Amino acid sequence: MASPGFFSLELLLNSIGLLSVVWLGLKAAWGLARALRIHVLSWVWKGVDLASYGPWAVVTGATAGIGKAYAHELARRGLNVVLISRSMEKLKQVAAEIEEKHGRSTKVIQADFTHGSEIYEPIRAALQGLEIGILVNNVGQSTDKLLYFLDTDNIDKYIEDMEHCNMLSIVKMTQIVLPQMVARRKGILINMSSVAGHRPLPFQLMYSATKAFDDYFSRALDMEYRSKGIIVQSILPFFVASNMTDKIIKYFKTPAKSFARQALNTVGLTSRTNGCLHHWIQSGYITHLSGIISSS
Ligand SMILES: NC(=O)c1ccc[n+]([C@@H]2O[C@H](COP(=O)([O-])OP(=O)(O)OC[C@H]3O[C@@H](n4cnc5c(N)ncnc54)[C@H](OP(=O)(O)O)[C@@H]3O)[C@@H](O)[C@H]2O)c1
Repeated sequence: MASPGFFSLELLLNSIGLLSVVWLGLKAAWGLARALRIHVLSWVWKGVDLASYGPWAVVTGATAGIGKAYAHELARRGLNVVLISRSMEKLKQVAAEIEEKHGRSTKVIQADFTHGSEIYEPIRAALQGLEIGILVNNVGQSTDKLLYFLDTDNIDKYIEDMEHCNMLSIVKMTQIVLPQMVARRKGILINMSSVAGHRPLPFQLMYSATKAFDDYFSRALDMEYRSKGIIVQSILPFFVASNMTDKIIKYFKTPAKSFARQALNTVGLTSRTNGCLHHWIQSGYITHLSGIISSS
């Protein structure tokens, strides 16, 4: 027969075990319910009415891939759109498509975000007078080759381009647009990080590190400005079909149009998301798998 001391220790351990199982079960159920609200119910029950934040949206890197899809989707939901990219020809083409398809106004700004701070005064001047409800900091670059850091071609330029395009652009565009949003106590900032900013990605380390910066910048900004009526959202997608991923991977890519539509449904419901249900499932799977690998 067990002694009373042993019995009470066994009871204590059993209770801790049971409470842990209940806690993990509740946590999983809460996670699933939240994912259902954010990624499924949001198709019919949106978090916010995007057009009510102001008549204009600004999208950087707006002539292809995810940026172009966001620009179209925002126009479809009733916003006028400012498109910013390097090629004037592509800008005019996308602007014409948006005006024809969605009947909204557009404005184009030609800028190369690999350049330094000097590009932002002309951008500020071009945005003067527009009531901007939404800024989508989408522009970003990666490389199509997986390389050791020191084997990168033209490495000094590469480092500077990645810093400017993937990090400085978000900071400076936010600095330009945020004051008017704070003054109105209303605005949405969407920053395109990547799942590569959540987990280190060797052989694309500058991309991975700059995307981690984007995610941290967004999260801290959200903490600072939430109480001032500003929604800040960090997006960490997996593979979306675009010029960037076309050379890297053939399968498992979400069409950009579908991604933008789903990701915009989540605004106001979550400040940090993989953007769509499919990517949320991939993220859960990878997190679980990497947990097993790192603990084994
Ligand atoms: N695709 C994915 O699977 C994926 C996954 C995670 C995160 N992301 C992030 O999502 C964002 C968009 O990626 P994407 O795949 O849609 O890229 P993409 O297809 O390569 O399109 C990039 C867009 O940015 C513009 N752009 C590129 N470099 C620029 C520069 N230096 N200055 C100004 N505009 C520039 C391009 O237009 P011009 O060439 O005309 O300038 C184009 O409109 C990036 O921040 C990326 O890191 C993408």
